[in-house]
Amino acid sequence: MKTFNNLALSRRSIRKYTNEKIDNECIKKIISVALVAPTSKNSRPWYFVIVDDAVTIERLSQCKKNGALALGTCSHAIVVMADPFKSEAWIEDTSIAASYIQLAAEDLGLGSCWIQIRERMYDENTTAAEYVRDILSIPENIEIECIITLGHKNEERKAYDPKKTMWNRVSFNTWNIEE
Ligand SMILES: Cc1cc2nc3c(=O)[nH]c(=O)nc-3n(C[C@H](O)[C@H](O)[C@H](O)COP(=O)(O)O)c2cc1C
Repeated sequence: MKTFNNLALSRRSIRKYTNEKIDNECIKKIISVALVAPTSKNSRPWYFVIVDDAVTIERLSQCKKNGALALGTCSHAIVVMADPFKSEAWIEDTSIAASYIQLAAEDLGLGSCWIQIRERMYDENTTAAEYVRDILSIPENIEIECIITLGHKNEERKAYDPKKTMWNRVSFNTWNIEE
């Protein structure tokens, strides 16, 4: 088993998946991690819709012109949302939960990819969020941050080269950064 450090250092976005479905136990493990992710003031404003119906996933894959490739072959799509009235930090809260989902998936040897929905367009007049809301009957008061795709990996992606780690973005005690 990978240590957390190795897991985080080797995780990459995976956009191609095999036909094999992820079993329910794995999905439960992944979501149970998201449900204990830290949130501002412990507000826990998030909601998750797990989609495993192939026809619905295919419809979701049309949510925007670019950047939805991973929805083409994934086993499950997790729609990550929040009630903004429960937390003004809902974007941070959903983003952390989404990252937890990705790391939990990696821990199980599964691939994942973040599909941005907030601030993205379906077409000239319709936001990607409106499009997704309509398909899944999401209430008007709920904001959609992203969809995390999950599946068995069908592509290999190399971990980042440690020699290229951006240490030039970091300084100690005071800003001492030159790019
Ligand atoms: C906020 C955010 C939005 C992203 N949106 C998309 C997206 O819409 N479609 C996609 O294929 N990947 C998306 N990604 C994945 C990034 O493209 C990916 O994390 C980045 O290229 C680095 O690659 P890596 O995850 O393999 O390290 C997104 C990632 C983040 C954190």
